[in-house]
Amino acid sequence: MDYGGFELRVLIIGSGGREHALAWKLAADPGVNKIYSIPGNGGLRELADCRDLPLEPTALARFAVKEKIDLTIVGPEKPLVDGIVDVFEERGLLIFGPNKAAAQLEGSKSFAKTIMNKYQVPTARTRIFTDFEDALKYANGEELPLVIKADGLAGGKGVIIAESQTEVESALRDCFLEKRFGAAGEKVLIEEFLIGQEVSLLSFCDGNKILPMVPAQDYKRVDDDDQGLNTGGMGSYSPVPVVTEQVYASVVDTIVKPTIKGLAAEGIIYRGVLYAGVILTTDGPKVLEFNVRFGDPETQSIIPRLKSDLSEILLATAQHDLGGIELAWHDEKCVSIVLSSAGYPQKPQVGYEITGLREAAALDRSEEHTSELQSH
Ligand code: AMP
Ligand code: GLY
Repeated sequence: MDYGGFELRVLIIGSGGREHALAWKLAADPGVNKIYSIPGNGGLRELADCRDLPLEPTALARFAVKEKIDLTIVGPEKPLVDGIVDVFEERGLLIFGPNKAAAQLEGSKSFAKTIMNKYQVPTARTRIFTDFEDALKYANGEELPLVIKADGLAGGKGVIIAESQTEVESALRDCFLEKRFGAAGEKVLIEEFLIGQEVSLLSFCDGNKILPMVPAQDYKRVDDDDQGLNTGGMGSYSPVPVVTEQVYASVVDTIVKPTIKGLAAEGIIYRGVLYAGVILTTDGPKVLEFNVRFGDPETQSIIPRLKSDLSEILLATAQHDLGGIELAWHDEKCVSIVLSSAGYPQKPQVGYEITGLREAAALDRSEEHTSELQSH
């Protein structure tokens, strides 16, 4: 394959704002010829040919062969944890993302903890349990609040911050006895509660070279003024003032690099985006979670700041060759805001048309305009 003066046919898997941001950037890329998305969304439809297919690895690989896709990019974690990368690579298809073994870093929190503990990556003190009584007995002796986490994927709902022993018991009961998270809750982590600012640092990795991106911070609570239920994120911004050069270097050196190296020492080559969810404690940065994909909504505030061609980076990552690539960034700051329907995140009311998008897209993004808006 020669992608020298490339004319790529790209497939983006997923349906979020994250995938829309990736498509928006790729559409402006001179090397990209056509974008497909499965399933896509209303915004993506303006940029991509959206198709409704089940997110099942073999069916997606068949689609990629049929439509002569040069590069597939996976947005959400589930297909990665299910092994989509292995299925594509067995068929000689280029795909951006970690394979099944590497995706365990998000697919199993106990796996991630084992790697972190073995390779001295700073994280919250944690114990792993498979039995309700054992977990309860341990929790009874611990200081509150305690963080209870289902081991597997739980759609962002598997973390409970328990403020009292009653809440601890009810969280453990939900996981072990009520099986609220199914198989994902058969193992449970009990973690110390960490205090500090949360930051997301995403890095491109080709298995060897690591290219960290600019940091972002997302806002989790659904209501204004940081109130209400936790969500996957109601908005994000980049850059992040608390991430000084020193903090940035410390996250890269003490977290990102040893994790990738540690995985390699275990025979696991990490390729794709590694998302480190970090909390800046008084003892230094500590890992809250790893994700094996772009963050949503972090991507929406990181990607518009990327000056370099995204397709070149994604392609080089998928081809295990980031050697010649450096990242260039715009200095401008970027904020993304999630507008959610009433009832979100528990029972959002869906089916309403979103209007005003064309007017919003036509807005002048220059500084004068921003200050004019602020003064009103
Ligand atoms: P996770 O999916 O593990 O990132 O957890 C979701 C959210 O729960 C995080 O973004 C934090 O806000 C919070 N959280 C998770 N673990 C901890 C911890 N050990 N201490 C404090 N907050 C936590
Ligand atoms: N914003 C959190 C995530 O993408 O998991």
